[in-house]
Amino acid sequence: MATIKAAILGFGTVGQGIYHILNEKREELKNKLGIELEVAKILVTDASRERVPGTAHLMTTSMEEVLAESGMQVVFEAIVNEEPAYSYLKRAVEHKCHVITANKVMFAKRGLELQDLAKANGVFVGFEATTAGGVPVIKTMKNILLVNDVSRIQGVLNGTCNYILTKMRAEGWSFDTALKEAQSLGYAEADPYNDISGQDAFKKLMILSALAFGEQPDWADVDVIGIDSISASQVREACEKGLRYRHVAEVEKLTNGKIVAKVGPQLVDKEHPLYPVDDVFNAVALETNYIGTLTLVGPGAGMYPTASVMVEDYAEIIGKRAGFVVTI
Ligand code: HSE
Repeated sequence: MATIKAAILGFGTVGQGIYHILNEKREELKNKLGIELEVAKILVTDASRERVPGTAHLMTTSMEEVLAESGMQVVFEAIVNEEPAYSYLKRAVEHKCHVITANKVMFAKRGLELQDLAKANGVFVGFEATTAGGVPVIKTMKNILLVNDVSRIQGVLNGTCNYILTKMRAEGWSFDTALKEAQSLGYAEADPYNDISGQDAFKKLMILSALAFGEQPDWADVDVIGIDSISASQVREACEKGLRYRHVAEVEKLTNGKIVAKVGPQLVDKEHPLYPVDDVFNAVALETNYIGTLTLVGPGAGMYPTASVMVEDYAEIIGKRAGFVVTI
């Protein structure tokens, strides 16, 4: 049986999740895909620290070493920030590796470029994990777009914000307590300011905009407001009136072709589809011409939901490459 070698770039919460799932599902993936997958390299900034027992021999700090590994064909990327992630993936693609990324900061800005480069090199880019964690919004939207037009997208795209707002309301926790818990559960970014300032939801919204409309609004024209100014008493008052705070990201293509977007907290009532979306859950409502409105809801952050969709991307890519549909 053929063996494919893979590398994991970045070995934090998501990178470790990929490693665990690939180990747990090794036999099953082998049987379904007819190909064995071996994690041959793990790229980190400090190779002296073994995060997962038994991985010390796989650690490297050198992208050259990753690409020099014979048979390297798949690169999972779970690094934070645009660089060096984009440069690494560019080199991987030019080396004819398929790439699967969870990096929304990089992908919001360089995603279209990376996909063009991948196309030119005959490889695939998986980016389901960049947006809405375990919610399969990218593959669903790609499918919908084969027939439908999407005119508007509205969603709760940051699990940390939703978790904090939920715990402040339902448990009476302070903002700081809820944020600390979101960090310890692996929901928040390395710099949680990206979550609570709305920047994380904004990047995900731009990825959805590029997919739905083939373009993004001018970033400078998008109002991005976080949840950092919402106080415990505001949350309590809203709750007493039967309302809930949700951090909502929305983008729309107007009839004149202009794309407009905004990100910020909104008060929603019981009738609103986002009202019941609590805890770390994300929700994405897609307005389409034939289906009508389709809403997807699920865990928006965390090690396993995010890592699991990256492994799904791998299975889909390998299935496509081999020209067969992966069956369950
Ligand atoms: N920090 C992100 C969130 C992780 O809370 O939604 C998933 O992208």
